Amino acid sequence: MTKKKVSFEYEEITSIEACDENIQSLYNEAQKAKEKAYAPYSNFKVGAALLLENGEVFTGNNQENAAYPSGLCAERVAIFSAKSKYPDVAIKSLVIVTSAKNVQAPVSPCGSCRQVLLEYEFAQKKPFDIYLQTKGQGLIKVASANHLLPFSFNSDMLNG
Ligand code: THU
Repeated sequence: MTKKKVSFEYEEITSIEACDENIQSLYNEAQKAKEKAYAPYSNFKVGAALLLENGEVFTGNNQENAAYPSGLCAERVAIFSAKSKYPDVAIKSLVIVTSAKNVQAPVSPCGSCRQVLLEYEFAQKKPFDIYLQTKGQGLIKVASANHLLPFSFNSDMLNG
């Protein structure tokens, strides 16, 4: 038996002010989107904003439902909205924020969102940056959705 280890790199950013203008603006858009989240069941509001290579910004927030599984996460609302309008334009960056007062860990996309982010990353054949809000003013930057989902299921497996 051989033990193997999977690791990935990420950057810790102490404050949004350390980011370039595009990311600061995405962060502000994500914050605004978060305020409009429909989260009456969890009270956990999430906002997402993404920048496409054509310069357009799309936002999303979580949409909950009395039938819980019918709701959708902020990231997927944003990404499906962008891709339904611009199926062939690549994503450059994505910012995810939450209203939770004292986020200890980064706001981390759920497994289904990781799967969806990775689908589009594979499709565009180019990684995109993901910024996750963390404690205080801080952010974590992950340079590819691939880092968030090792051993992912992907379309290659369907063609085996
Ligand atoms: N949620 C998101 O919108 N994105 C995430 O990355 C994690 C969780 C939402 C789903 C649900 O409305 C609420 O947060 C609590 O799970």
